[in-house]
Amino acid sequence: MSITLPGPTLGVVGAGQLGRMMGEAVARLGVEVVVLDPTPDCPAAPVVSDQIVGDFDDPDAVHELARRVDALTFEIELADPELLAEASAEHDVPVQPDPATLETIQDKLVQKEALADAGIPVPEFVAVATAEGLERVVEEFGGVMLKAREGGYDGRGNVPVEDPADAAAALDEVGGNAMAEEFLDFEREIAVMGLKGADGETRTYPVTETIHREEILRESIAPARADDAVVAEAESVARDVLEFLDGRGVYGIELFETREGEVLVNEIAPRPHNSGHWTIEGARTSQFENHVRAVLGWPLGPTDLVAPAVTANVLGDVDETGSATLRGVEEVLAAPDADLHWYGKEDVRPLRKMGHLTVTGDGGEAAADRGALLSRARELRDGLTFRDA
Ligand SMILES: Nc1ncnc2c1ncn2[C@@H]1O[C@H](COP(=O)(O)OP(=O)(O)OP(=O)(O)O)[C@@H](O)[C@H]1O
Ligand SMILES: [Mg+2]
Repeated sequence: MSITLPGPTLGVVGAGQLGRMMGEAVARLGVEVVVLDPTPDCPAAPVVSDQIVGDFDDPDAVHELARRVDALTFEIELADPELLAEASAEHDVPVQPDPATLETIQDKLVQKEALADAGIPVPEFVAVATAEGLERVVEEFGGVMLKAREGGYDGRGNVPVEDPADAAAALDEVGGNAMAEEFLDFEREIAVMGLKGADGETRTYPVTETIHREEILRESIAPARADDAVVAEAESVARDVLEFLDGRGVYGIELFETREGEVLVNEIAPRPHNSGHWTIEGARTSQFENHVRAVLGWPLGPTDLVAPAVTANVLGDVDETGSATLRGVEEVLAAPDADLHWYGKEDVRPLRKMGHLTVTGDGGEAAADRGALLSRARELRDGLTFRDA
């Protein structure tokens, strides 16, 4: 393929922080970005050419987006796969990843079934629709993570259930139609950002260790502090997952390392992922640039590590709601080893992802101590606050 600059215009459904970082990454390459999002002045708006304000499933808005661009992608699972496929066909604009992949992934139960059918290792899971059914599963599994089949994120839609007596309330909380998964006492969580490009080429980024609290990602560490055998197994599982998925782009593959050193797939995101934000500073090519390269069918950039990196998410305080002003920023800006990313959200809400910072080691022995990098990232992050001085 012969590539000329200025490059094509890319249409992105969704325009949160992922769209913003995508826009930041590809402006340099002469790729113009137009986004579709229902929220005026959403995070991506200031860094892209234009925003169409409309719902993800508004046919007029999606068709308008398709009319105005040379290629389509999405940065949110709430994109409408059928509508994307239809607009893509009608306006003769390719959409990547394949909307059929998005459709499979949108339903956690369908996703798990598809993975299991493909022979990919996953935790034990089962569909549940009644409180009695859930009670039996809780007894059988000895505790489950109950998950809404659709629409959950950042742990919303997930309820741990240990006691069969809590079944009815838990099912109510997730809205009835759910999947129950064995509750894993895992060794650690890890993730692989996988990349699928033109002609079926696949690449993976170094395995990332992820630390969640209240089911929300707090920190990611690259490379993961796992044994070589576990890292190799994670890479192998990720390659199998990429093989099984249709469509070009970045995929965030969330994994569990069990106490026995097994690797199981938790879930897949058909887009750049919070566990891969460290790639902006820590890898040769960021996940955002590579997502766009893959979607456009351009040559992929190298995924090698340039420095060990730890990303710490900046979340809204648990009891804070209102207009967002982040304080303590000067400390992070003055730090020679940290990069700050602000998502531009107007309001802070409890545990809302407002930004992140990444600390990179300089390759020296002390800096490559990932425990020390993690402490450093936490210390810098914890110095930031949304509270009044
Ligand atoms: N079967 C399980 N056993 C134990 N903990 C689990 C299980 N499933 C999920 N969790 C915990 O909850 C977190 C969130 O779960 P999951 O990835 O299913 O939810 P999500 O809301 O879709 O997440 P995301 O923040 O990635 O959108 C996991 O990262 C993990 O810490
Ligand atoms: Mg998850």
